[in-house]
Amino acid sequence: MSIAFDNEQQIFHLSTPKTSYIMKVFNKRYLAHVYWGKKIKTPDMDNACLNRFICFSPVTSDENGVNVPDFLCQEYATGCGTDYRIPSISAVYEDGSRTVELWFESYEIKKGKYSLKGLPATYTEDDSEADTLVITLRDRLKNLKVELLYGVYNNLDVITRAVRVINSGDADVILEKVVSANVDFETADFDFLQLSGAWGRERHIERNPLRSGIQSIESRRGASSHQLNPFMVLADKKADEDYGNVYGFNLVYSGNFTAGAEVDQIFKTRVWMGINDYDFSWKLEKGQEFTAPEVVMVHSSEGLGEMSRTYHKLYRTRLVRGKYRDEVRPILANNWEATYFDFNEEKILGLAKEAADLGIELLVLDDGWFGKRNSDNCSLGDWYVNEEKLPGGITELARKVNEYGIKFGLWFEPEMVSPDSDLYRKHRDWCIHVPGRSRNECRFQLTLDLSRKDVCDYVVEAVSNILDSANISYVKWDMNRHMSELGSAMLPADRQKEMAHRYMLGLYDILERVVSSHPDVLFESCSGGGGRFDPGMLYYMPQTWTSDDTDAVERLKIQYGTSLAYPISTMGAHVSAVPNHQAGRVTSLKMRGDVAMSGNFGYELDLMNFTDEEKAEVKAQIAQYKELRTFIQSGDMYRLLSPFEGNNTAWMFISEDGNDVFAGYFRVLCQVNPGISRLKFKGLSEDSNYEVVGEDKKYSGDELMNIGLVVDLYGDYMSRTFRLKKVK
Ligand code: GLA
Repeated sequence: MSIAFDNEQQIFHLSTPKTSYIMKVFNKRYLAHVYWGKKIKTPDMDNACLNRFICFSPVTSDENGVNVPDFLCQEYATGCGTDYRIPSISAVYEDGSRTVELWFESYEIKKGKYSLKGLPATYTEDDSEADTLVITLRDRLKNLKVELLYGVYNNLDVITRAVRVINSGDADVILEKVVSANVDFETADFDFLQLSGAWGRERHIERNPLRSGIQSIESRRGASSHQLNPFMVLADKKADEDYGNVYGFNLVYSGNFTAGAEVDQIFKTRVWMGINDYDFSWKLEKGQEFTAPEVVMVHSSEGLGEMSRTYHKLYRTRLVRGKYRDEVRPILANNWEATYFDFNEEKILGLAKEAADLGIELLVLDDGWFGKRNSDNCSLGDWYVNEEKLPGGITELARKVNEYGIKFGLWFEPEMVSPDSDLYRKHRDWCIHVPGRSRNECRFQLTLDLSRKDVCDYVVEAVSNILDSANISYVKWDMNRHMSELGSAMLPADRQKEMAHRYMLGLYDILERVVSSHPDVLFESCSGGGGRFDPGMLYYMPQTWTSDDTDAVERLKIQYGTSLAYPISTMGAHVSAVPNHQAGRVTSLKMRGDVAMSGNFGYELDLMNFTDEEKAEVKAQIAQYKELRTFIQSGDMYRLLSPFEGNNTAWMFISEDGNDVFAGYFRVLCQVNPGISRLKFKGLSEDSNYEVVGEDKKYSGDELMNIGLVVDLYGDYMSRTFRLKKVK
């Protein structure tokens, strides 16, 4: 059992293979946070759990003792005027009072991991994999019950958290904020790492030292967003890939979120993560409950690399579901950058034939096949085929593509409606809007109001009709705008602020219904590239289109940054044409291939434009990826050189059994007389020998890791890969 409670000392000790997480019921009242980090024995509480006076901070006292809530490291902070740091929960009671005083009440330890109704979460396949701790806190005056849920994995250094709020009182309560996790640290000697960006520049790593006050990240866009990912790390100032304490937090949610760190007057740090309280409230009637989504917390005392590998393994095996969790992903060709809206059946079949000839396994038809959509200004919502472009419909097209021996996939953008669509003309109130206000468009489209059951049912039916009408093996589920003018025609005035979260619950319900009724379909989510790359979406769809930016150089940062939290098997990565459509840059076919191979490999360019020489190179890339993908997609990743720190990037993948290795080294700009460049491997066995495939050379693991292999590259935008095999 990974969870122990010491009744005498009132201490909870949660342990994973290498970490400890410790809490104490303090003076029978507060749930104090004591420690999270490298595994230890339960410490002495006089030493580890401090309660000291600070001037200008109120004390609370009773027969059990005197407490200084503003000083105490708290597990779930209620503020209520005695703790001036960021509170975890805010509520308004029927009498207008806002003090939420949460006292420890009870706990329960269970085998297996909790699940969250209607929300995505990591899971177990067997109760022996994890244990659950439920700690109940209660506001005794108003009878508001707060359950803190902890999932503790036995074989991974992962602790998950979520919160359930139950109104056991007699009157309605308005929740104005419910975060999913709060962790107080005794010091502020940390850097704050975040993944920030924009469309086409997603998940760049930013690292800044903590300072007094608040540093935070959030989304107010109705999606987890390109701009700030719901992921943050607190890292020791000297921590790097292989060294130092790092603490990762990742929210399993795809909508508005908030996360951050507050450094207080005595240099303690409070971290929080959860649904954004911006434009949010939730009316909880008597007997009702509200569930806040899961936070996945990973600690490593061996740097960022180990933290990422823990996230990767958890997400690959116990977040992603369905058949493709355990199967290799097909190599695909997508027609978007090849044709945009300008295609017909002949063109698509031409691409399919060429794809099959090259060894590609799946042809994806992107935007433009439905309604009268020949540009992005119409037809979203009208999910019936454009027979002018595709005379036999999707059924015939899929059949013909299959005849070439490859699979067929299709693009949808089901959450949206174009004002120029039959759907909108029929149901003007089905979009998110505020009566009498402008309905501001983005990419000529409005967002469907998924807080409504009837709209969700329509979406499920429309998508399912198409999926059931043809042999469709893959779906790209896109979402190309953020929300504005939040309002729902169905919600009463006092529930309008529930809209953004109700949208997410509606979306998750749709995804569950569509995905579970089509178990053989591979789903890839997308939002203008990687605008909704989060664990919430990955629970339903095992891969995400990483970015609309397909330039190989730009992708180094995007894929490197994304890998901080998300596994390689979740990242769509395609070879596209040069000059690149987003960056205008010309890179070699080799580098484009090598970068895309460090993900879920595919092509997104006109396959018919290849020269014979290029065709031969592409065939070789495809054959190579087929050989490598089992362990690229399911092995361990080691980041070797960061694109955020210099001109060179390198990373490697190693199979779970340690026998197969693939490493990529990428140089952006050439320097003359640059000095010696070596690629130093990681994670190999020191005492084993490795053969460099294709080079008739063998090296020992310790040499490869400490001396490394020389990389000589000439010219800009170059790459070099190494394929190693362990030999006896
Ligand atoms: C988004 C996606 C692209 C493509 C277009 C189609 O931008 O990210 O890959 O599917 O939509 O409109």
